[in-house]
Amino acid sequence: METIRLRNGVEMPGIGFGTYQITDLAQCEQCVLDAIGVGFRLIDTAQGYGNEQAVGAAVAHCGVARQDLFLVTKVHFRNFRPDQCRRSVLESMEKLGVDYLDSVLLHWPFNDYYTAWRELETLYDQGLLRSIGVSNFHADRLVDLINYNATAPHINQIEAHIFCQQKVCREWMDKYQVAAMAYAPLGQARRQEMYQLPQVTGPAQKYGKTPAQVMLRFLMQSGFVPIPKSVHSSRIQENIQVFDFSLSDQELDDLRALDTGIAMIGNPENPVRAEAALHWK
Ligand SMILES: NC(=O)c1ccc[n+]([C@@H]2O[C@H](COP(=O)([O-])OP(=O)(O)OC[C@H]3O[C@@H](n4cnc5c(N)ncnc54)[C@H](OP(=O)(O)O)[C@@H]3O)[C@@H](O)[C@H]2O)c1
Repeated sequence: METIRLRNGVEMPGIGFGTYQITDLAQCEQCVLDAIGVGFRLIDTAQGYGNEQAVGAAVAHCGVARQDLFLVTKVHFRNFRPDQCRRSVLESMEKLGVDYLDSVLLHWPFNDYYTAWRELETLYDQGLLRSIGVSNFHADRLVDLINYNATAPHINQIEAHIFCQQKVCREWMDKYQVAAMAYAPLGQARRQEMYQLPQVTGPAQKYGKTPAQVMLRFLMQSGFVPIPKSVHSSRIQENIQVFDFSLSDQELDDLRALDTGIAMIGNPENPVRAEAALHWK
């Protein structure tokens, strides 16, 4: 598996498996087993997904050594007040059945995220976390966090797909060597027209690949680590078969031109969203 080297030298797999909205725990365990079975090594979960225990069960039974997996979880922003972040990470580790995590991210830039970040830094310094990061941080929040703390995030997990390529955020992330993880890489199935676009179907036909594989490959060649989710074993397998072809410069340019710069989900700067977040589970 191709990897991306984080700023601190830790190697992160070039693609991962997402588990958002897999709330049935038995199904989640099976999906993660299927994902690891076909070669996924990075598994993304979150305290807010309510499935860390199921991911942990799969990790325990998958037959792959712990050090060969890259486990990512996220701290919910309701746990960003003093001491809550630390406790929450330890709780996640217990649910996942592990004594260290490969990365822990602050899920959204809401609430007291400076306090939470400093607690993550301490856990990182103590060796319990191999890397630390954020999610849904746009360039302004990211640069500010970097300016006033000892350790810059190693990863920023942001919404990214062909319609939302995060060009501005990526410029700043590249400047500070913050690795880019792409969530909703297939548009969370909200934009089915993606699958019909000639810029996608053309290369799919040419390389004998599916539209989903072309969209994932596009993100990878753009420097993202995509983390597609599926509950179907055939799609889980399809989504990792993206290492045996390359899009040409022209094909990349054609796909780049589809960017609208608009996020469907990752828009914390919207006050309506920030207000609504108070009531998120
Ligand atoms: N940090 C954050 O705030 C945040 C937000 C959202 C997501 N995430 C993370 O990112 C991961 C991925 O994002 P996501 O789950 O929102 O969306 P996504 O991976 O873009 O899309 C998942 C949807 O696409 C379908 N799908 C998967 N593979 C497919 C294929 N090969 N062909 C056609 N359809 C396919 C899935 O259907 P089936 O399941 O029915 O196959 C599901 O409906 C999440 O699971 C989560 O780990 C993070």
